Amino acid sequence: MHVVRVDLGERSYDILIGAKLEEIGTLMNELRIGKKTAVVTNPTVYRLYGERVFSSLKAASFPAMSIEIPDGEQYKNLDWANAIYTALLINAFDRRSPLVALGGGVIGDLTGFAAATFMRGVPFIQIPTTLLSMVDSSVGGKTGVNHAMGKNMIGAFYQPKLVLMDVDVLRTLPREEFLSGMAEVIKYGVIWDRELFAFLEKNREKILAQEQGPLTHIISRSCEIKADVVSKDEREGGLRAILNFGHTVGHAVETLENYAIRHGEAVAIGMVYASRLAHRIGLCDGHVAEKVEGLISAYGLPTSLSRLKRRPTVLQLTDTMMVDKKAEGGKVRFVLPKKIGEAVISRDWDDAALQEVLAT
Ligand SMILES: NC(=O)c1ccc[n+]([C@@H]2O[C@H](COP(=O)([O-])OP(=O)(O)OC[C@H]3O[C@@H](n4cnc5c(N)ncnc54)[C@H](O)[C@@H]3O)[C@@H](O)[C@H]2O)c1
Repeated sequence: MHVVRVDLGERSYDILIGAKLEEIGTLMNELRIGKKTAVVTNPTVYRLYGERVFSSLKAASFPAMSIEIPDGEQYKNLDWANAIYTALLINAFDRRSPLVALGGGVIGDLTGFAAATFMRGVPFIQIPTTLLSMVDSSVGGKTGVNHAMGKNMIGAFYQPKLVLMDVDVLRTLPREEFLSGMAEVIKYGVIWDRELFAFLEKNREKILAQEQGPLTHIISRSCEIKADVVSKDEREGGLRAILNFGHTVGHAVETLENYAIRHGEAVAIGMVYASRLAHRIGLCDGHVAEKVEGLISAYGLPTSLSRLKRRPTVLQLTDTMMVDKKAEGGKVRFVLPKKIGEAVISRDWDDAALQEVLAT
């Protein structure tokens, strides 16, 4: 098992990579929290892993009930947060009662938000079951729900007490979901760690075959990088924005595709175009953009806007990016690679260069 500590003073916690679902009860016994527990999950994950989690909780004397949310992004909203509050109130949960999120990023974000707000905050434990939730959404404390007018518009920063990652559960994950998570792993390599990037290049087959050693390594490294960034800038005052590499174009693509594309796929396309922009404005050599595109393609992820069913126009893309950024005021910020393993957050690009790149 590999332990990554997220250092945030009295809100610090451990991420346990390679722990087993069966250990959750014992591990929760080590935290000073109440016994009465609610496990929030969805029917897909409950059917696969509910039994193992509930027997472990029972063996460690945690009386636990499940709260099932239908499977899908469309249920990450205030109505379902309210359904969680109601279930907790009916069952007389109190401020010490833990909420456990068992599932992917949708369940993690919704449960975290409910934990942050129920009785002004109750203990929160994450058991992420998708690659994306292991390397990204379960680390860093962003929780939230969607609003009809926008994704993740309502939320809170709220850190869990513990994150348990049993990498074996990824075996049941649909392949496209696994690859979507790989986009975020590639992102860490480009912005922060050229050794991780080289590891991904060299061990592609083992990683895609989910060999335990390489898989645990890339998840651990991703968590370490995210934990490092979050410890330095928890509330995205500056540095944390570097994690948005690929997300500027990526979000615009997701919006224009009406979320019919997976997040990681949109980010993959976004990373390619951000790298091309960096090259176009002279921030990096051409081979950086080529290497980024090569690795993304090697992991079966899309690299071009032409892969979309209806390719958006340059104007649609730039307009959507502007709407996204309206709240911040001013010019859109891009995260741009300088070389593999190092990126900058920049407003220093010109419209003509961006338009030219988006047209490729
Ligand atoms: N909080 C953050 O910092 C952050 C960061 C990135 C993404 N997110 C959020 O994460 C969400 C996306 O998360 P996701 O990609 O995990 O999607 P998801 O939670 O919808 O899971 C994808 C699918 O996989 C299924 N599934 C989960 N685990 C499984 C397993 N082990 N075996 C088989 N099937 C399994 C789910 O039921 C679902 O159908 C979005 O809502 C996004 O906004 C949050």
